[in-house]
Formats: sequence, structure tokens, C-alpha cells
Amino acid sequence: MKKVTPEYIELLNKAVARELQVSVQYILQHTKMEKLLRKVIKENYLLDTTTYDEIGAFLKTISIEEMKHLAEVMERIYILGGEATTKPDKITIGNTLKDFMELGVKAEEEALEMYHEIIKEAKKMGDRTTWQMFSQFYKAEEEHLLTFQNYNEVLPESNVSEPPESEWRSIFNDPDYIALINKALAAEISAVVQYTTQHEKAEGLERLRKKSDHLEVVTGKNKASVVSALLKEVFMDEMDHIEMIAERLFEIDKEALPLIDPLPEIGNDVEEFIRLDRNGEDYAIRLYRKIIKQANDKGDIKTKRMFEDIIQQEEEHYWKFDDYATGE
Ligand SMILES: [Fe+2]
Ligand SMILES: [Fe+2]
Ligand SMILES: [Fe+2]
Ligand SMILES: [Fe+2]
Repeated sequence: MKKVTPEYIELLNKAVARELQVSVQYILQHTKMEKLLRKVIKENYLLDTTTYDEIGAFLKTISIEEMKHLAEVMERIYILGGEATTKPDKITIGNTLKDFMELGVKAEEEALEMYHEIIKEAKKMGDRTTWQMFSQFYKAEEEHLLTFQNYNEVLPESNVSEPPESEWRSIFNDPDYIALINKALAAEISAVVQYTTQHEKAEGLERLRKKSDHLEVVTGKNKASVVSALLKEVFMDEMDHIEMIAERLFEIDKEALPLIDPLPEIGNDVEEFIRLDRNGEDYAIRLYRKIIKQANDKGDIKTKRMFEDIIQQEEEHYWKFDDYATGE
């Protein structure tokens, strides 16, 4: 294999940006589905299952598939000695099922074009592993594309009708309050990206995989691998939180914004991962306490209870990271 160039890493990072974009896009569309299900096609209330259930399930499944692609490319980048980006391509959600499908077709077509290019470059590099990896992705994205195209063809145009106002809903008309809930969503997306990246970095970096004493050799573990496993566990929780918060926003007829804030910080070694993650959980806990307080003041009990559930998990995450931060 030829020497890895910065241009080559940059090319692979384009795939990272793409996979990041689609995994967030599809999961947010999935959460919007439940709202649309009842809203758009009037006859739906007569049916036990609808197109919306079918497509909603499809979107969640492929979002997870794209997350796996993302993780694989990231790990590969670290093995090759590069640094993975945490910045997605532009995420667009859309308003109707038809929009979702059209956006899906576009994203998958672009991915196929990009991966075609990467497969060619990997071959030139003599990088067989990457070549093989992207050949598999290519097949998966092609299937995604066909499914999106198929749904796109059969779906009728739908228009979202505005429901009549009722008085109690005015509690949601405060833009600062909605922005605050979106800030929580942005923090969750940031956490997922940060933890995934750190997990893959720990798996991929030779330096972090090395065993430094006899006990580590015997157990086959070291601090990096233990923390890496913890990160995977925690990021699954954060995925649930993304779904919960986005679903709530759509339920109250507001937009869930695909933002990442604060920007993910990765760090170079396990000690740094832990310090950054502990800070991240600290930020989330403080933010969610603010939301709980405002939700309570407004009488938005459902949002309040949801964040009370979430905040308990964030605190558990905090203590887990804290354990590793204080050891030694
Ligand atoms: Fe993918
Ligand atoms: Fe895809
Ligand atoms: Fe969370
Ligand atoms: Fe957390």
C-alpha cells in the first residue's frame, strides 16, 4: 500500500460528513413521521397500519445502518493515522413524506457518486481494506436509493393542513422556550457525534490499543478499551434522547432543528476523552435543569417529565465518567 496522503484522508472524511448527515437526517425524519401519520392523510385514522408506519420503520433502520457506516469509516481513518471530521454535510428534513423521499434519493445518489470515486482511489492506493469497505457501502447505498425511489414514485403529494388553535397550546408560542428545547436536541446530537468519534478513535489508534502491563495483557483490556465500551453504551442512550426530544418538538407542532451545539470535542487520549465527556454531561445537566424549570412554570408537564427522565440518565453518565476521571 502507498503512503497515506492528506488528500486521501480528506476524501474519506467526505464520506464521514455524508454518513453523519444522513444518519441525523433520517432519524429526525423518522421522529417527524408519527406527527404526519395522523395529520396528513385523513383516511389514516381508519387504518391500523399505514404507509407512515412502513416508511417510519424504514427510516429508523437505515439511520442505524448509516451510523454503522459512519463508525467504520471513522475507525479506518484513525487506523490510517488521520483525524475524522465531526462536521456533517447539510442536513435537510423536509415537511412531507414526499419531501423525505426526494431528499433521500438526492443524498443516496450523491453518496453513490462519492463512493465510486473513493473505490477508485482506494484501488490506486493499494488500500484493499478501504476498497472492500466502500464496495460494501456502495451496495447498501444502492439499495437505499432504490427504496427511496420506489416510495417516491408511489406516494401521492400530501399537504400538511394547519389544525385549528386551542387555548392551552399558547404555552408553546414562546420562541425562546422552543429554542431552548432545540438547544437540548443540538447538545444530544453533539454528544452522539463526540462519543461515536471517541469510541472509534479508541478502537482505531494503535497507541490506544497497546497494553501497558501484564494484567492488561491477561485480561485483553486496557483503560482505552474499557472507556471505549462505556462510550458505546452511553451513546445509545443519547440516541434515545434525540428521538424523545425531536418527537416532542414535532408533537407540539414545532420544528426540530438539525444543529450540533456545542461543537464536538474529541481529545487525543483517554484522559482527555473522559474530561471532555464529563464536561459535556455537566453542560447537559445544567441546560436540562433550566428547561425543567421553564416547563414547570409554563405548565408544560409532559416536557418537564420527559426532561426529568433524561436528566437522570445524564447524571448517571456523569458519574460513570467521573469514576474514570478521579481514579489514580
Ligand atoms: Fe451509508
Ligand atoms: Fe444510504
Ligand atoms: Fe442525552
Ligand atoms: Fe449523557
